[in-house]
Amino acid sequence: MAYENQEVANAAEALQRKFEKLEDKRAILRDAELTGLYERIKHLPADQRAGFGKEVNQLKQELEAMVRESENSVQADVSAIDVTAPFAANTLPEQRPQLLPASDGSIHPLSQELSQVLDIFYRMGFNAEASREIDDDYHMFTSLNFPPDHPARDDYDTFMTEEGLIAPAHTSTMQNRVMKKYKADLESGKGIRAVIPGRVFRNEDLDARHEHTFYQLEGVYVDEGINAGHLIATLKTFLEAYFAQDLEVKTQPFYFPFTEPSFEFAISCPFCRKKGCQVCSYSGWIELLGCGMIHPNVLKEAGIDSRKYTGFAWGMGIDRLVMMKYSIEDVRHFESANLKFLRQFK
Ligand code: DAH
Repeated sequence: MAYENQEVANAAEALQRKFEKLEDKRAILRDAELTGLYERIKHLPADQRAGFGKEVNQLKQELEAMVRESENSVQADVSAIDVTAPFAANTLPEQRPQLLPASDGSIHPLSQELSQVLDIFYRMGFNAEASREIDDDYHMFTSLNFPPDHPARDDYDTFMTEEGLIAPAHTSTMQNRVMKKYKADLESGKGIRAVIPGRVFRNEDLDARHEHTFYQLEGVYVDEGINAGHLIATLKTFLEAYFAQDLEVKTQPFYFPFTEPSFEFAISCPFCRKKGCQVCSYSGWIELLGCGMIHPNVLKEAGIDSRKYTGFAWGMGIDRLVMMKYSIEDVRHFESANLKFLRQFK
């Protein structure tokens, strides 16, 4: 922009040069070259103030526009920070990375999908409970009827600290807590209906289908007279709402220490309707989750009378659901923080 006043024109040129070299572009708005011009206004003869002031304001607006533009164009080109450290501990003020503008952000695909899943269960009368990311042997195994030294413990490739704390390898760690929490409600006639989403961790060999960190949704339903028919109907209702279509379902016997009987639960492929496609590996069916009738020992361990009450539980991988829905070929994208991947879900 051209300025009539020579002094403003000179300052504009000097500021432009400084702006290009500045790391923190916003600092240009505090530059003495600019603030000095405002000082000057006071000392000018009265008849020159208005014209001079107008040009100084114009210059300021021009600089503000330049700052905004530079902030919007900051893309993936930012250095990494340790988000777990206090901000000031990361860097000296002059080295602090520029933050991406909030308008550039988007909700992670797993979070987007999870909120839909929870919404459906909420409408079906389930409470959502928060899981936790560090736990103990009791909740991971003992409360779930894994006898000490039972080989089924090895199925979970569990991360443990030297102190014996556990990064939960499944959300079933929450079953005992949820049942204890709602035991009084159960006894006053209100059944327990809870879903528990959580991040889980396994010492896996990583590949396109295996990630060390992934998400599960646990479900727990306990009341008088509950049987496997309720289990099948509940999961079918949820899955038909989620995939917005009628589905066929089937169960196959399986083994989990915490359920008896235990099942693997499969649905007819919602993408090809059993004709056979890549998603269902041309079988027409997709195995989705593990489930079963809660073992009496698990109920007892939570202080629930297993002669009076029965229940079912299930554990479902959220990542798998989302991968299927959006034809995502590699589970590792989710934790990769790769903006190219994430922006597709904006
Ligand atoms: N926790 C099991 C897993 O991660 C999944 C599971 C199976 C959860 C059966 C359940 C259940 O609640 O009843 O492999």
